[in-house]
Amino acid sequence: MNPMEKLTLSLERGEILLDRLLQDGIGIAHDCGGKLACTSCQVVIREGMEGLNAASEDELDLLDRSGAADSDARLACQVSGIGELLIEISREDAPVHSSMLPVTVSEHAAEYLADQLAKHPSAVAVRLIVEPAGCSGHGYRIEPSDVIRDEDSVFETRRLRIVIDAASMPYLQGTRLDVSHQGLVRRVIFDNPNARQTCGCGESFGVLTSSDRRTWAES
Ligand code: FES
Repeated sequence: MNPMEKLTLSLERGEILLDRLLQDGIGIAHDCGGKLACTSCQVVIREGMEGLNAASEDELDLLDRSGAADSDARLACQVSGIGELLIEISREDAPVHSSMLPVTVSEHAAEYLADQLAKHPSAVAVRLIVEPAGCSGHGYRIEPSDVIRDEDSVFETRRLRIVIDAASMPYLQGTRLDVSHQGLVRRVIFDNPNARQTCGCGESFGVLTSSDRRTWAES
């Protein structure tokens, strides 16, 4: 078993423990994206249980089947409540790399992407991809992702799980996603500090070091 690390933290009323951990940059695994389909987000709650919701039958069943030996074990994605907590968490093998977020997402962009993700029940994350495209050299692609690969960077922001492959990451570092409305069409905006130039059609960009602002229309 991996070594356990003790952490103290505080939940706002109704806040989900997994969200709190990820927002604090704690690299806890959450392989199913909080859908109660894995046990990778398992923690042990040593203090503060009285301010938390009770575990559901499904959560208890999953913990039981995983062989969780500690009676205070919970699945962080299922824990909500309020107050100070002392928890123990296994920190090794966590696939989440969430120190400084490589990409930030506005509230509107998070809502939009969550709506898109909801149309793909098997998806566990939004994948951001940079690939050769257009006359300026590079283009963006957003897609629902059913898998997390070993080389992926995975992070969570505004309750949205985002994955970026290793080849795309250098082009996206520091980017902020937003959404613009043009009539009934919503467009995802990539405010990318790595993009120097965009082509006339607005679907591709060249990479240099100075800041630039461009938009990308989701197809
Ligand atoms: S992330 Fe899978 S059960 Fe919590």
